[in-house]
Amino acid sequence: MKPELGVCYYPEHWPEEMWVKDAAKMVQSGLTWVRMGEFGWSRMEPAPGDLQFGWLDRAVETLGKAGLKVVMGTPTATPPRWMLDKHPDMLAVDAQGNPRKFGSRRHYCFSHHGYIEECARIAGIMGERYGQNPHVAAWQIDNEYGCHDTTISYSAAALNAFRRWLADHYGTIEALNFAWGNVFWSMEYSSFEQIELPNLTVTEPNPAHALAFKRFSSDQVAAFNKAQCDVLRKFTKAPLLHNYMGRVLDFDHYKVGEDLDIATWDSYPIGFLSDRLEAHSEHKTVYLQQGDPDMQAFHHDLYRSVGRGRWWVMEQQPGPVNWAPYNPAPLPGMVRLWSLEAVAHGAEVVSYFRWRQAPMAQEQMHAGLLTPYNRAAPALSEVRQTADELAELGEVEQKQAQVAIVLDYASNWAWETQPQGGGFDYFQLVFSAYRSLRKAGLSVDFIPPDITPHGAYNLILAPGLATLNDELVKRLTSVCNLGILGPRTGAITKDFQIPDRGRPGVDCLDCQVELVETLPPNISRAVQGGGAMQHWVERLSGSARDLLCFEDGTSALKEGGGLWYLAGNPDDALWDRVINLAAQNSGLTLHQMPEGLRRRETSDTVFLTNYNAHPVEWHGQIINGCDVAIIKPESHDPA
Ligand code: GAL
Repeated sequence: MKPELGVCYYPEHWPEEMWVKDAAKMVQSGLTWVRMGEFGWSRMEPAPGDLQFGWLDRAVETLGKAGLKVVMGTPTATPPRWMLDKHPDMLAVDAQGNPRKFGSRRHYCFSHHGYIEECARIAGIMGERYGQNPHVAAWQIDNEYGCHDTTISYSAAALNAFRRWLADHYGTIEALNFAWGNVFWSMEYSSFEQIELPNLTVTEPNPAHALAFKRFSSDQVAAFNKAQCDVLRKFTKAPLLHNYMGRVLDFDHYKVGEDLDIATWDSYPIGFLSDRLEAHSEHKTVYLQQGDPDMQAFHHDLYRSVGRGRWWVMEQQPGPVNWAPYNPAPLPGMVRLWSLEAVAHGAEVVSYFRWRQAPMAQEQMHAGLLTPYNRAAPALSEVRQTADELAELGEVEQKQAQVAIVLDYASNWAWETQPQGGGFDYFQLVFSAYRSLRKAGLSVDFIPPDITPHGAYNLILAPGLATLNDELVKRLTSVCNLGILGPRTGAITKDFQIPDRGRPGVDCLDCQVELVETLPPNISRAVQGGGAMQHWVERLSGSARDLLCFEDGTSALKEGGGLWYLAGNPDDALWDRVINLAAQNSGLTLHQMPEGLRRRETSDTVFLTNYNAHPVEWHGQIINGCDVAIIKPESHDPA
């Protein structure tokens, strides 16, 4: 696969005379893809049924003729104002019971049938019009599901749909009462019609109720997406995709991905560092203008799995964004580094957001590749350079990593529902495991909890995996030399009860969780020999061998039957120790990386990305700050 570059463009924001020049300049800059359409509904259909596609026809023609391939976006993330007159109850409702208002975007409830039909209708009109257009080479459905906290809605539409979903899942109200344990606090129901959404309860709702609602809400996203896919498939053979976000875990991306051909995501490294990553302030200072060295790669690897091998970056940050608490500019070299890093992880396309900075409305402070005055912004020359380097690089083929992490969206919903302690967070747990693997120079795959990977792994980690069953354990132990479970792995049933068989409840591993404690952030439990558990600590019993113990002699890591079980949430030092030990036991070779340098192996190349602002040395080679070294086997010993 030969990676390409693209850009997000809004022809409706600019006078038509500019399009032809824009298109020529895009091509000159080395871009081959252009995404458009995804927020254009008020121009496609200014009033119900008044279809005005002439401008979009001309835009597709102009950009296509210049040699660009178009990703056509369905505009369903921005319902126009008239839609609310037609469907006044289509707005999502927040947990306090207030409808979310018109005036920005994503103002719809995933369960509203009237709106779903409108979306299928506009997708059909667009499919009919552009499905066979030679310039339209891919389709994006909607824009960033879940962004701006929009997965969950407490609307009347959601309530009706939830009751139907519960009836389908549980069959009888008695079965639901039993599964949820509703005898507790006299919460038993006598019909599905009595069940409300789990907001505005006096104190916390039954976690089984809350978890069921999160599962339902995730299913609604998948169904919403599928409705448009089903329509578009009738008109086009071009791949369908969606642009997911960073650190959004409130719907099951694997499930949405089943109806799509390619996963894409929107990568804003500097925005994410300041906005959605817990880290020490020194770390945030060091990487202020580069982004966290693992956050992008984490999502690249995750979305490679969501896309079953096919994935893109749909929106790449090109300069300061407008939405984080602080918005510094990338250091010179970083836009190129992020782009090449994505390619190293298998991106088919890296597309920048956006072509020209908008002079109006919410994102007027968000950089583009051009300034609002049409001058080149700093990123443009890096884009050109990247395009040249990609042409030289040629094909980039992925290979299976030796290590995988099981990432399970439902585990996030479970632990969010009942965190038990302030510091315990599923994303952070998985991310810290990932970071430790990357610090050891390893390439990592993600696997969904219900899939058997094609090949075998040396090591598979399933930290915090809420629900375990024999089938999954069998699959894990059959495809890897070593599996690491815990903390909180196998801790609940899918209906949020403590399993009868105990925790984690694995036959081949004689280890039981007897007691759970959570700790405030300033307290941790030291492990003999170095490192500590933080936030979450379990007391284990059982005859499985102790590999590591806490300072009081109790088990911190147990081993049996090809599996290890971690009795807590390791801090960074402990993760590094565990990964080192695991490498020795599973036949992995580690490469201790200098701080901020990361390594990614493809089938015949090693990519080294230096997130530091200063040079680092690696096996005798100097890699400059914010630079990438691409090492082919013949050129150097990549180690
Ligand atoms: C993304 C979104 C874009 C734009 C961008 C700004 O989340 O998909 O439409 O708003 O952020 O950074």
